[in-house]
Amino acid sequence: MRAAADYTFHHAAPEAGDFYQEVIDGLSQPARFIPPKYFYDHAGSRLFESICEQPEYYPTRTETALLKQYASEIAGLAGEDCYIIEPGSGSCEKVRLLLDALHPAAYVPLDISCDHLKMAAACVADDFPWLDVHAVCTDITAELSLPFIPEKTRSMMFYPGSSIGNFDPPHAMDFLSCLAKVTGQDGHLLIGVDLKKDKEVLDAAYNDASGVTAAFNLNVLQRINRELAGDFDTEAFVHHAFYNGVRGRIEMHLISERKQTVRVDGHSFEFNAGDSIHTENSYKYTIDEFQGLARQAGFTPCRVWTDSDDLFSLHYLRVV
Ligand SMILES: C[S@@+](CC[C@H](N)C(=O)[O-])C[C@H]1O[C@@H](n2cnc3c(N)ncnc32)[C@H](O)[C@@H]1O
Repeated sequence: MRAAADYTFHHAAPEAGDFYQEVIDGLSQPARFIPPKYFYDHAGSRLFESICEQPEYYPTRTETALLKQYASEIAGLAGEDCYIIEPGSGSCEKVRLLLDALHPAAYVPLDISCDHLKMAAACVADDFPWLDVHAVCTDITAELSLPFIPEKTRSMMFYPGSSIGNFDPPHAMDFLSCLAKVTGQDGHLLIGVDLKKDKEVLDAAYNDASGVTAAFNLNVLQRINRELAGDFDTEAFVHHAFYNGVRGRIEMHLISERKQTVRVDGHSFEFNAGDSIHTENSYKYTIDEFQGLARQAGFTPCRVWTDSDDLFSLHYLRVV
């Protein structure tokens, strides 16, 4: 066991120009949208942590309970000394529940929110001084390159939080295929997937009474104002989230409350009252639907755990 924490940081973050171009392109479409990855500046990452503590937001506490309950079984499937690679690692809280049981050779958190990632990875390195931590600030939807991982290393992708739900199903399949490619032939995947359930429970989870999800959604407009010389009046847009049962997804929108013109660095965008900017989808799956998708992406389901209310699922899969 080493005495000191080992922590490295690799910077492969998207350029500011990518944010600018994607915002201008998204706002120029007839159905306006802003990709959800842009929620996560430092303020957005903190707001997401606060969402996780809201009583209506069942996914975090349910998945956390499953990880605690099944950590030793997960460790038995993963084996010791693997590399844990976590796309969209956020606060790196959930992986802590696995580290003692799995005793991995290294932990590789990947996130687009650089400052937040640095803080979270440093805390893990401090609290688990025997662990190699290699944090990578990157856009996980771009090509993933992790050259510091030795060849023939056994890897377990850890993708909690039902973040897979932010992709529409064909793109979710593509993303899972990329994860399979990165882990290689002997690769494993532990992934949290939110389940289909009553609309009332889902609608409440994305419309917490304290308004934290609303603040998280609106923060993307504040970020555009801060970083892209935008002039959004954030009091003239409201958060709107609902379960679309036909498409099997939560949709989050920002709705213009009045007729207005918004400028972003010289570009003008006209809004009428009721016009929407679509900011996020969160697809929900049955266990069979998700396993079907994972099979198409090259994974074999090994084990699935759910809570007693069937709110959330935790899947363990292996590359075929
Ligand atoms: C819904 S949060 C989940 C955080 C954590 N995994 C959990 O389960 O609580 C999504 C995380 O993924 C990160 N993220 C979102 N899109 C990303 C992208 N394209 N590339 C890298 N990280 C991304 C965000 O910064 C955030 O930390």
